[in-house]
Amino acid sequence: MTGVVRLQNIGKRYGPDADILHDVSMELDAGGFYFLSGLSGAGKTTLLKIIYLAETPSRGIVTLFDTDASLADRETHTALRRRIGIVFQDFRLVDHLSVRDNVALPLRIARAPEREIRENVPELLSWMGLEGKLDLRPATLSGGEQQRVAIARAIVRRPDLLIADEPTANVDGDIAMLLVRVFERINKLGTTVLIATHDVAFARQFAHRRYHLDQGALTLASEGATA
Ligand SMILES: Nc1ncnc2c1ncn2[C@@H]1O[C@H](COP(=O)(O)OP(=O)(O)O)[C@@H](O)[C@H]1O
Ligand SMILES: [Mg+2]
Repeated sequence: MTGVVRLQNIGKRYGPDADILHDVSMELDAGGFYFLSGLSGAGKTTLLKIIYLAETPSRGIVTLFDTDASLADRETHTALRRRIGIVFQDFRLVDHLSVRDNVALPLRIARAPEREIRENVPELLSWMGLEGKLDLRPATLSGGEQQRVAIARAIVRRPDLLIADEPTANVDGDIAMLLVRVFERINKLGTTVLIATHDVAFARQFAHRRYHLDQGALTLASEGATA
């Protein structure tokens, strides 16, 4: 597998409104680390939703893991989506479940053995600095802690692609830096990473490739570091 995401000439409009995205093409290679920058309202979340198959483009072709999503049936969509971990901007943790059970959820849905869940979930949570929080409810955690739970849940199944929508928007500078370091560690384990941010200056600090959305058009604004 070389191509993780391939968008060809994607257009998107909501109802009768003007185009949010026009003629957007994008390629994410396996093992790559990418930022997606653009002002608030530029269409970043819309583009991410198209990639994780939560929105259908008005035009163009979405290819995920070398499979043309527009031609695929529902089961195939489900299978493709299972290979993607998503950190939503508003976290979407399950309030009545403990931190441990929130993170275990994708494993339970995939019918992973409970023994594996007992071993892996606490290990991942301690890796995220949440070892003392396993049995707490999300509502009792700080925003930054909830975010780390959301990240842990997104990566627990070692997705091929990790998508994070503005994960650094509501945290202090050093926490934002720490989160990028966490994403880089995940990336080193083989997961392709795509992080959306409205903060261009923040993304530019890192030697990663960066796509930029402006007025509905996408450009590769930075090639990243040459290896
Ligand atoms: N479901 C929707 N229906 C109609 N308009 C939408 C919908 N989602 C987003 N938009 C509009 O699309 C534009 C881009 O939004 P969004 O993708 O959320 O941008 P960003 O994530 O870059 O802030 C905005 O003008 C927003 O109001
Ligand atoms: Mg957004």
